[in-house]
Amino acid sequence: MDASCGILARYRDWMDLPPHTRDLDLCEGHTPLIPVPRLARRLGGGFDLYVKYEGLNPTGSFKDRGLVVAVAEAWGRGAQAVICASTGNTAASAAAYAARAGLRAVVVVPQGKVALGKLAGALAYGARVVQVRGSFDDALALVREAVARFPIALVNSINPYRLEGQKTAAFEIVDALGRAPDWLAIPVGNAGNITAYWMGFQQYHQAKGTGLPRLLGVQAEGAAPLVHGREVARPETIATAIRIGRPARGKEALQAVQASRGRIIAVPDEAILEAQAWLAQEGLWVEPASAAGLAGLVAEIRRGRLDPRGKTIVVVCTGHGLKDPDIVLKRHEALPLIEPDLDALQPWLMT
Ligand code: F0G
Repeated sequence: MDASCGILARYRDWMDLPPHTRDLDLCEGHTPLIPVPRLARRLGGGFDLYVKYEGLNPTGSFKDRGLVVAVAEAWGRGAQAVICASTGNTAASAAAYAARAGLRAVVVVPQGKVALGKLAGALAYGARVVQVRGSFDDALALVREAVARFPIALVNSINPYRLEGQKTAAFEIVDALGRAPDWLAIPVGNAGNITAYWMGFQQYHQAKGTGLPRLLGVQAEGAAPLVHGREVARPETIATAIRIGRPARGKEALQAVQASRGRIIAVPDEAILEAQAWLAQEGLWVEPASAAGLAGLVAEIRRGRLDPRGKTIVVVCTGHGLKDPDIVLKRHEALPLIEPDLDALQPWLMT
């Protein structure tokens, strides 16, 4: 297959991959870094604020960076099937890249807790979707057992090649800005992505002296094991993507945050929904978990714990709003329904 447009083509030399890793792509990556000056002004102004809009990846989330690499490696090793536990985005992405490579995909998800667009995506790409009576953490424990006993490749972020792929988002940010930002605000669930970003920023800094950001990791209050320092048996949040109580990369994430002189904080669901609305007012519709990074930044600025003035700040928006349409529809009243005539429409035109 001709890999010419994705992250393997662009960044393979920067990734630590076994030589058997195949070429594979859906033209993932090169997502835009969008300036949001009006949003910066709402937060007091005097700084540069950008959104790294990862929802524009082929399956609608940043997971594509990790899954393209994990699947390319598994494929090259001769695997015929891949498996993951997922809150939904990993599932859709694993399914898409497995389809592209001609492998089978099995995805294990927590029953009733996966947003519509993710479930539909995984099914559309042809994955075998299995629900468990339990949480994401239960699903991941089960998948770990499965790969110990059956010849099927694990593509959760415990898989090191996932992080190799996901760190390319940090490369792109530095390539776009010419240096690392001062702060990077990012949602945290299973904690693979924040770990991968830190790897990427460090690698570029060592090679090119491009600087390092401080990391602001953001969890949902009902699913904040890294903030409270203990596992959460029954995580609960409207941001189902990060509804995780036992993050697999928790230790690495805490180390990264500490090394960056940053922190991990928790925000309530209402703050996540407010941030989602603010982004939508800029024309950027993201799924709730994706807005957690902005929610955390807003909270820190409001509390006076983060002075943004003179800084360059990047907020990572991890997944597209189309992933979770229900959340928006549920929050709106019934739509007006009229006869198709102008008199009936008129009241809606001018107010
Ligand atoms: N944002 C979105 C939209 C996600 O789907 C996830 C994770 C995260 C943030 C957090 O990233 O886990 O690397 O800390 N979703 C995983 C999944 C768990 O199964 O799709 P993380």
